Amino acid sequence: MTKIQFFLLTLSFATLFSGCASQSESASSVSRGEGYFAGYGCATCHRIGNEGGRLGPDLTTIGFRKSKEWLDLWLKNPPEWKKNTLMPNFYLKDSIRKDMVDYLVSLKGDLYESKERPWNKSDLMADPRKRGETIFNSVGCVGCHGVTGKGGYPNNNVVGGAIPTLTRVADGFSKEELKDRIRKGSIPAPANPQSPSPMITMPAWGKILKEDELDALVEYLYSLRPPVSEEEAW
Ligand code: HEC
Ligand code: HEC
Repeated sequence: MTKIQFFLLTLSFATLFSGCASQSESASSVSRGEGYFAGYGCATCHRIGNEGGRLGPDLTTIGFRKSKEWLDLWLKNPPEWKKNTLMPNFYLKDSIRKDMVDYLVSLKGDLYESKERPWNKSDLMADPRKRGETIFNSVGCVGCHGVTGKGGYPNNNVVGGAIPTLTRVADGFSKEELKDRIRKGSIPAPANPQSPSPMITMPAWGKILKEDELDALVEYLYSLRPPVSEEEAW
């Protein structure tokens, strides 16, 4: 018997004997979801805390940054939301998808409180830009704004159909304004007020990040400005 078969067998017993009080049911759907996450090999591509792969976004704060409704939609069929995504459709059964969503919703970044935050290593503390880059990737800015802020992630019912790119924010915002923008987050205006609201919003990062972490993010975003060419620079 393979590890996964054994795991699924244990899981079905666990389901049989799980209680029916609603509180314990939701607690157990989270732990079942955690088991499925391992069983389906999601960690090959995704990190949670200090473990997992890097082909896809870090999911340590996924329950803070994305809504339950969106997560369910995404897991149903990733390429339907984002064409050409590397993430395969797992054709999950409804009950499995529900448990997995409950698990993802429970991941709000608390893991970083108990373990050392990955961007607080001493070499990074001495280099705010690099530290900002590590925060950008670890807390999942990358999951909405793309690798190095290049964008390309879809949103529904917004002008242009996409989440903003961040490579030119240095031209539009002072450092203080930029920090405030990240701290407070925002809800995009719907392109068409008659259609359903955009499902992806900019989270208020001040709720989980400290002032010095926001400062490091600002340093990183400022560094993304494309280099000014020699001609323009005269
Ligand atoms: C082959 C690699 C791969 C596997 C396996 C994989 N994913 Fe993904 N996943 C990605 C990539 C890449 C993205 C980002 C979307 C993109 O850029 O295409 C993503 C995005 C996501 C997101 C949204 C992240 C965000 O920041 O918005 C969630 C949630 C997610 N995956 C969950 C899962 C779960 C649950 C599983 C297992 C059932 C899984 N993934 C398996 C590659 C993978
Ligand atoms: C869940 C998706 C999501 C995540 C994760 C996310 N953002 Fe955003 N962000 C958005 C959306 C959507 C907007 C547009 C908001 C609007 O139109 O009001 C936005 C806007 C912004 C803007 C303003 C850009 C402009 O041109 O007006 C900045 C700066 C920004 N985000 C930085 C960040 C940083 C830094 C992080 C990580 C700490 C982050 N975002 C994580 C979705 C996200």
